[in-house]
Amino acid sequence: MKRIGVLTSGGDTPGMNAAIRAVVKSARVNGISVMGITKGYQGLIEGRVHEMHRAEVHDIVGQGGTILKTARSKEFLTEEGRNKAIQVLKAFDIEGLIVIGGDGSYKGAKDLWEKGIPTIGLPGTIDNDLAYTDFTIGFNTAVSGVTGEIRKIRDTMESHERVGVIEVMGNRCGDIALFSGVAGGAEHILVPEVPFDLDTICDDLVHDRIRGKLTSIIMISEGAGKGESLANYINAKTGIDVKAIVLGYIQRGGMPTVDDRILASRLGIRAVELLMEGKAGRVVGIRNNQVVDDDIDEALAMKPRFDKYLYDMAETLTSL
Ligand code: F6P
Repeated sequence: MKRIGVLTSGGDTPGMNAAIRAVVKSARVNGISVMGITKGYQGLIEGRVHEMHRAEVHDIVGQGGTILKTARSKEFLTEEGRNKAIQVLKAFDIEGLIVIGGDGSYKGAKDLWEKGIPTIGLPGTIDNDLAYTDFTIGFNTAVSGVTGEIRKIRDTMESHERVGVIEVMGNRCGDIALFSGVAGGAEHILVPEVPFDLDTICDDLVHDRIRGKLTSIIMISEGAGKGESLANYINAKTGIDVKAIVLGYIQRGGMPTVDDRILASRLGIRAVELLMEGKAGRVVGIRNNQVVDDDIDEALAMKPRFDKYLYDMAETLTSL
């Protein structure tokens, strides 16, 4: 293999740059040139391709976002769009493609692989919603950031004797809410994976007030509902002063944590190795702190996983 391509796709995530850097460095060390594709599959269709040199990846290991930019391409979802993308890959003599993104981006990589383009997927999403890997690149940073915000929000909620409802991202996966809720000591954690009863939460809050506990933090994952509606419901039912805070893009930007930088570096290097070994149609990930690779079809077909043990632990930690 003489030349490979790399792109980032879907929502950006802290650590994407560390992954790009690892891909470029490890490929070049092995005599393979790397073509960077700007703005994901859309950029590929439009031929936004350039050769990446050392200087472009210098000092980006700790930089948030993605230097290659990203997009969610509607055109790539069409047969015509995918055929155009393949034409561009062929025109630039790109023999293998590394796709850094989440499940939507993986579906694109799978389609290209089915059309004969060797692809490897790297899990870049804050959502942690890819079942085959214990962690996705960016999740640790998102959780660390949200945990810091919980502290700040609690300070002001306590000063006003209010209840704070914090809505976080995650798409249909509750991991950001769950992990940051545990780390930040949230009193209630609402995730799409576990049914909850709003009236029980209201009763708990009223009971808390009676015993002198005036402030609570409720984490709600976007897949479980809207923070604003929840706050309105609680206020209408109990009269408690409740504020909804939507953290939004604050949790997706910023410097990647050490864990994300290392994970991205390990997975970037493994992705290049796989292409060099002549393997493709695979995704790389981490299980029990070991780098693994799986067939892309099998990885996409895996049942979503949820750490029920951690969820139950959170219930214990917030009881009494
Ligand atoms: O998939 C990552 C994610 O940040 C989700 O958590 C969120 O639902 C979505 O992207 C937001 O997408 P957009 O960038 O299009 O607003």
